[in-house]
Amino acid sequence: MGITNPNKLSPASAIDSMRSLYLDLLKSCLTDQLYVHPCPVPIKPRNLWKRMIVGMLAARDMSVVRFESVDEQLRREGRDWPSHAHTMIGNTRLDHLQFCIQDVIERGIPGDLIEAGVWRGGASIFMRAVLKAYDITDRYVWVADSFAGLPPPNPTKYPSDAGDPHHTIRELCVPIEIVMSNFDRYNLLDDQVLFLKGWFRDTLSSDLIGTLAVVRLDGDMYESTMDALVGLYPKLSPGGYLIVDDYGAVPACRQAVEDYRRAHGIVDHIQTIDWTGVYWTRS
Ligand SMILES: C[S@@+](CC[C@H](N)C(=O)[O-])C[C@H]1O[C@@H](n2cnc3c(N)ncnc32)[C@H](O)[C@@H]1O
Repeated sequence: MGITNPNKLSPASAIDSMRSLYLDLLKSCLTDQLYVHPCPVPIKPRNLWKRMIVGMLAARDMSVVRFESVDEQLRREGRDWPSHAHTMIGNTRLDHLQFCIQDVIERGIPGDLIEAGVWRGGASIFMRAVLKAYDITDRYVWVADSFAGLPPPNPTKYPSDAGDPHHTIRELCVPIEIVMSNFDRYNLLDDQVLFLKGWFRDTLSSDLIGTLAVVRLDGDMYESTMDALVGLYPKLSPGGYLIVDDYGAVPACRQAVEDYRRAHGIVDHIQTIDWTGVYWTRS
């Protein structure tokens, strides 16, 4: 007598379930939420004597650290700058990125995926993972960054960036070798990942980049957001997604988006992802 297990999944549902398990686990890894532990963070004392002691210890491959506990709510919302995680964008924006990629695949919107402003690479790694999970072999993930932090502000050309301190933040300088090795850690460094090294003004208008289906902007400043829109928006397919990470968090970024939309007569509705991220679908 045969026994049918009513809980047994159809092959299609089983694949969907495995995709979700993989991508959910990946999001926990990329945001460093798997292990709840206080993180050792090297201290940088201002006091001269303490600096000398730290320097002497560093010469002996030792460092003085403080233990920083992770606020899990802030991490999920992408509001902290993680010491170890590979992305700082949090779960809501990762979930939304997954939705956009799945949607362009399902609707057959042509084009590659690009992130302009990748830091340690986490959101771009996730883009590659979604393509992998859906066995998509004819789309690329473009990974664009200076890999040396943000440009100094140019207030003559971009008054909204006057006094912007981002270029002084060393934590935002992540060399390309580290980003590549982060891709490799997830076994996602392959020939479907293309790196564009340099300032957005020099790289993003390149003819090397063809049609795009999902464009993710995460360059914080007015200049970076404007250069990315100028270079990439004309390549975005109708029906594709334009995502802006810093619209809520950085007024200069929001200004660049509004100026670009006004100059090009774009009236597609801007939709909120979370406290800072927004997107629209190109009509
Ligand atoms: C906030 S971080 C990006 C965070 C990242 N998307 C994540 O998933 O955590 C901003 C990044 O943009 C890059 N960037 C900003 N403006 C740039 C520009 N004009 N040209 C090249 N890279 C730029 C910086 O080097 C930095 O890696």
